[in-house]
Amino acid sequence: MAAGIDDIAIYIPRLYIDAADFAKARGLDPVKLQKGLGVSQMAIVDANQDPAILAANACLKIMQKNKLSPEDIGRLYVSTESSFDESKAMNSFVIGMLEQVYGQGAFEHCGGVETKFACVSGSYALYDNTNWIRAGEAEGKHALVVVSDIAKYDMGSSGEMTQGAGAMVMLLNDKPRLLAFDPRVTSTSIKDEYDFYRPFGKETPIVHGQYSNMLYMIQVRKALEAYKKKVISSKLINIEPGETILDHMDYINMHLPYSNMGKKALAYLVRHEWRQLPRWKKILQEIGIEEPIPKDPRGTIESVLGDEEFMAKDHEFTKLFTKTPEYQEVYESKLASSLIASSMIGNLYTASLYLGFRSSLEFEYQKGIKLEGKRVGFGSYGSGSSAMVFSGVIQPEYEEIVKNMNLEAEIGDRRKLTWEEYEELHENKLSPEDSMLHSKKEFILVDVNKETESKGERRYIYNE
Ligand code: CAA
Repeated sequence: MAAGIDDIAIYIPRLYIDAADFAKARGLDPVKLQKGLGVSQMAIVDANQDPAILAANACLKIMQKNKLSPEDIGRLYVSTESSFDESKAMNSFVIGMLEQVYGQGAFEHCGGVETKFACVSGSYALYDNTNWIRAGEAEGKHALVVVSDIAKYDMGSSGEMTQGAGAMVMLLNDKPRLLAFDPRVTSTSIKDEYDFYRPFGKETPIVHGQYSNMLYMIQVRKALEAYKKKVISSKLINIEPGETILDHMDYINMHLPYSNMGKKALAYLVRHEWRQLPRWKKILQEIGIEEPIPKDPRGTIESVLGDEEFMAKDHEFTKLFTKTPEYQEVYESKLASSLIASSMIGNLYTASLYLGFRSSLEFEYQKGIKLEGKRVGFGSYGSGSSAMVFSGVIQPEYEEIVKNMNLEAEIGDRRKLTWEEYEELHENKLSPEDSMLHSKKEFILVDVNKETESKGERRYIYNE
């Protein structure tokens, strides 16, 4: 039975901080953000928004767009790493909001949980819900998988230039118009790590930035190795001698904590795949320098990062590699379009990979490319840490959805924050009633209870 993504909707907060303003205030070179990281704007939540609101607003959009009633939905999962309650799951807050529009009890039948594993949990939720459909449990109903996050880092930290916020919802069913997932090939890799984590009670994460970058690439590569084995054993794809699995992916979508991390990760994967192939000899000639090897090739991530000579040479080698026409062709045709939305919005943690998928659909379609039958590979990563690699094929009806995609229109009129406004929002100095925008036809937060008996209870309304 086919199962996959039928439609998608996004909700992105309309406030943003501009990368150039950010760089100026922090004494950084703006080119580092714009060209080094690929960050142009970072979406910031208003004082009356939280991750449940972003999720509920995205869900309402997809339901209204597809004229769905609550009875059509069998499951609603929310994946997030911006949870604000240790026990009450975010999907229950979302259902509470949706029932303000659809009537109390309208979603009573609709099961689901909140899933957590940093940025990869949405991929696990998609996989589980796809299998719910494949198992014949859905009884004709759809599943909603929402990925919603506020990527917020400490003031003055190196992560602060990679913030963002937003939610995306994916409607799953057995007749998907957009993408059918390839069966029996989804692969994972997992390891107990402390690259990025957020202990209880702390609003922002503790981050080991360069360590997390390298761990991301290693973990995705391990998951790709496992994926390759499954592709061969399931006979999904026939990999001929001299070919790599990446040759069989028309598009590659990577987790995007910032836009250029996609470039970094793709270069890493392609380099490791091509190294074993006859084509590598020619590439090495074009690069013109030897591929560097760390002093301790079997060392830890720390020892490799601490090997300054190797890191500098490897950086130079990678830069030259990414300039080769062979790599450029892969980059332009398989990845580039997926990075556009990320640079306009910033990090969405769980939603970043899927915003990239949506971005690649919109901008590849605009190029006039026929997308039907194209295979999309996904490289999902969550700190802590786990990676998941899987794939799917774009379906014949994709155009029905993709022709109407317009990122700018879907975000709506954006408002650039001044530095003072950004600081006030970041430091939680404003109450919900001090919100900067007065958005209509959206859910908003009215208050969070501070009384001992009801501490943390949130009151939301649908702002007509
Ligand atoms: N002009 C042009 N480019 C410049 C520049 C300048 N003046 N200065 C620096 N650059 C380039 C650098 O060469 C580098 O490019 P390459 O990656 O191609 O080498 C890029 O800009 C970034 O520079 P640095 O590596 O020096 O940046 P940094 O160390 O100050 O911070 C970061 C980068 C580590 C990603 C940091 O922003 C961070 O900690 N972010 C949060 C953690 C994160 O996103 N980790 C990603 C993997 S973990 C994950 O994916 C989970 C998640 O969502 C968080």
